[in-house]
Amino acid sequence: MKNISFINLEKVLNSYNERKGWVCPSFLNQIHMKYRVTSLTVEQTREWGKQLGERLRGGDVIALIGDLGAGKTAFAQGIGEALGVIGPMTSPTFTLIHEYTAQLKGTQFRLVHMDLYRLQRPEEAEVIGVEDAFVDDAVCLIEWPKIIEDYLPEDRLDVEIIGSGEQVREIIIYARDLDWEFRLKDMT
Ligand SMILES: Nc1ncnc2c1ncn2[C@@H]1O[C@H](COP(=O)(O)OP(=O)(O)OP(=O)(O)O)[C@@H](O)[C@H]1O
Ligand SMILES: [Mg+2]
Repeated sequence: MKNISFINLEKVLNSYNERKGWVCPSFLNQIHMKYRVTSLTVEQTREWGKQLGERLRGGDVIALIGDLGAGKTAFAQGIGEALGVIGPMTSPTFTLIHEYTAQLKGTQFRLVHMDLYRLQRPEEAEVIGVEDAFVDDAVCLIEWPKIIEDYLPEDRLDVEIIGSGEQVREIIIYARDLDWEFRLKDMT
């Protein structure tokens, strides 16, 4: 009998990761499935945000990870567009939190957009009421989420944007559970 331990799992995983679009079936990677797409322009990044936005529902928390100028706010704007946010969605860099009225399939809820770059200590998250946004009647988008990682719900979605300036962006979406896998699998 063939000894399957000779299969180089790393190599198998990498070969999936080389592909565009959804890349890794969960039986090979128990932790999560990664989706990887590229974006050449800010409009494309917004469009990917919009595609994700169409798959969201109340209670979702999205952590937006990436360097300064990666395109986190652009991605958030695309989500806002999908959720029917009226008016411009500007960066909450100085205000920390912006809140919008959003709508999805006829249900109204809050779209909460945070930028925690200026937070100094995790405890400040309580003061500004970060967890108030982790409720069923809100969708919460968090730029610079690292400082509050202990507060973040396990079933959040992590979206990482790699690249900045004139570079092509790589957008990696980490589905942490089967529910996210199911909701994202037809993103094209
Ligand atoms: N493919 C791309 N995707 C997104 N933004 C791009 C792309 N190419 C160029 N850009 C430019 O990069 C900038 C991204 O700005 P944005 O405010 O969305 O970044 P950010 O990640 O939110 O930064 P910050 O950490 O400062 O909040 C914009 O000026 C945009 O025009
Ligand atoms: Mg931003």
